Amino acid sequence: FSAVDVIRAKRDGLRLSDEQIDWVVAAYTRGDVADEQMSALAMAVLLRGMTPEEVSRWTAAMVASGETLALGDVRRPTVDKHSTGGVGDKITLPLAPLVAACGAAVPQLSGRGLGHTGGTLDKMESIPGWRSTLSAQEIRDQLDAVGAVICAATEGLAPADRKLYALRDVTGTVESIPLIASSIMSKKIAEGVQSLVLDVKCGSGAFMEDLDRARELADALVSIGTANGLRTSALITDMSVPLGRAVGNALEVAESVEVLRGGGPPDVVELVVELSREMLHHAGVSDVDPAEALADGRAHDAWCRMVSAQGGDPEAELPRAEHVTTITASDSGTLTRLDAYEVGIAAWRLGAGRARKEDAVDHAAGVVCLAKPGEQVTAGQPLLELHTDRPHTLAQVEEALAGACEISGADVVSTPLILDKVT
Ligand code: URA
Repeated sequence: FSAVDVIRAKRDGLRLSDEQIDWVVAAYTRGDVADEQMSALAMAVLLRGMTPEEVSRWTAAMVASGETLALGDVRRPTVDKHSTGGVGDKITLPLAPLVAACGAAVPQLSGRGLGHTGGTLDKMESIPGWRSTLSAQEIRDQLDAVGAVICAATEGLAPADRKLYALRDVTGTVESIPLIASSIMSKKIAEGVQSLVLDVKCGSGAFMEDLDRARELADALVSIGTANGLRTSALITDMSVPLGRAVGNALEVAESVEVLRGGGPPDVVELVVELSREMLHHAGVSDVDPAEALADGRAHDAWCRMVSAQGGDPEAELPRAEHVTTITASDSGTLTRLDAYEVGIAAWRLGAGRARKEDAVDHAAGVVCLAKPGEQVTAGQPLLELHTDRPHTLAQVEEALAGACEISGADVVSTPLILDKVT
């Protein structure tokens, strides 16, 4: 094979053969196909697309580029959830222990945040003592003992994706549905779970801003999962408004603990319960009601065991920011808009996110949404609380947030949180 022939074939809109796909992915991982050749191919894929069969094969080739986490010995059915990322999306934190408390095993291999969406590991690292790096054996032992693990993906999983994602990031080729879908699914398949539920976010705070694109991504993800032997389904959920009230690492941990104690914001509770029902359905656990496991403390017990197993102290105080200021309502009326993207950017600037991979995050920084769309507000009432240890960012963030909220005399028609389901 030659890389130039493969690039030309895709450039001219041809379907790549299984052998071409296997070869180019393996050769790129080894370093025998150069970055400039792979970026030309990625651009050709972005412009020409791939058939479902090509995407499925491409994904399998990325899985085969590294090791897989053998979960066959785990004594419970294994199921995972993946979210395409959003603002205030702390769902993994309450969800993993909840599903564990109901009898399944959840190996949640997670990442760090970049840009305006947060990363699960950054959130968990606000808990004093908590450790993100576990060996494959530690993951398996914790799945048997507790049923839930949230940890960093081990280095050896889907190395082709690690390399390709970094390349796409700097070559304008992130926004290709076949490449996004194969990237996400290669990591999940390498994880070795039996089933998977995807939460495809849609709206200003998400990768996919409109419903048609979100459906297209959900279809691609489900089709790859099914073709690779995983029971897979997807919910498409709204991300035009931040999820819950807290945006920022420690703030989101605190809100997750509220949910695990049977309280918390209704949208977070709704999504956690719906996703857990879907996961338990795939896992063949039909006799447990997750809403009850949240209400009676079983999910909270599983959380405490999960955090302690990784060295964290579930009772420890979380970091708090030195500076807390509020943004108040300019008018009285109904809050009709609270833009997820703007709030995500604000939290990021206050210190909750990072600009470059190697930057540190401030665990205490973030935004608390004191009102959500649909609520009545009066002029002067605090709408947003800004938490930061970087007070020099406040003026700019306040100015940027001015356009994030809209108050009007009209009643808002509330959009549902769960927009669609793809099986
Ligand atoms: N998340 C991933 O893991 N890969 C992508 O390509 C996009 C989002």
